[in-house]
Amino acid sequence: MKERLDRIVSRRGLLSRKDASAAIRAGRVRCGGEISRDPAAKFDPDVCEITLDGARVSNTPFVYIMMNKPCGVLSATEDKKDKTALDLLPPELARRPLGVCGRLDRDASGLLLLTDDGELNHKITSPKSLKPKLYEAALDKEPPENARALFERGLDLGDFTALPARLDAHGKTCFVTVCEGKFHQVKRMFRAVGCTVLELKRLKIGSLSLDPALAPGEYRVLTDAEREELLNSFR
Ligand code: URA
Repeated sequence: MKERLDRIVSRRGLLSRKDASAAIRAGRVRCGGEISRDPAAKFDPDVCEITLDGARVSNTPFVYIMMNKPCGVLSATEDKKDKTALDLLPPELARRPLGVCGRLDRDASGLLLLTDDGELNHKITSPKSLKPKLYEAALDKEPPENARALFERGLDLGDFTALPARLDAHGKTCFVTVCEGKFHQVKRMFRAVGCTVLELKRLKIGSLSLDPALAPGEYRVLTDAEREELLNSFR
């Protein structure tokens, strides 16, 4: 059934009606590959592929959002007291049954993936999922020389032994890749080699990289390519 373009774009939960119209006028929406600048033009989303900034908005049952979570915001979908990642989204998106795929501490920042695709969420957060996650950590001091080998071997953290992780140290700035997601895992791993994490930022989950253009608190919908690569990697 044909519908107004601004309604199609906004109803998919991506933008308010006003923002959808602005996006259409700005040439960010394509219908069947052609830019359409008329919010009142009518299309059948089941027949014509409609994209916003290159991401399909028609016939996509789920929404996949990457956010650059700022420090101080909870990576939860609701909290009685504190601001959550969902509070940073417009009502059109926030009213969807979104879940957070892999938590980040309140004082950590960076890549947060939100989706109403429960199956993908489960696959990402399952303890069996050993997909690499890349973090950047600012430390209070340079890690000891043997830290890389200790991370690689698997650190004994008392209640569990961490799986082998990769550490690339550049002075007090470290890049660490871990394949599990235990509570405070990265902070505890650095603690085990005598360092304190002062700042922690997640840069990657599996194939998905944080878009460097996103300022803290900003978000965007995954592109088709990002979404397909992510879904394929968890099949
Ligand atoms: N490791 C941590 O210590 N904190 C996070 O938020 C994520 C990984």
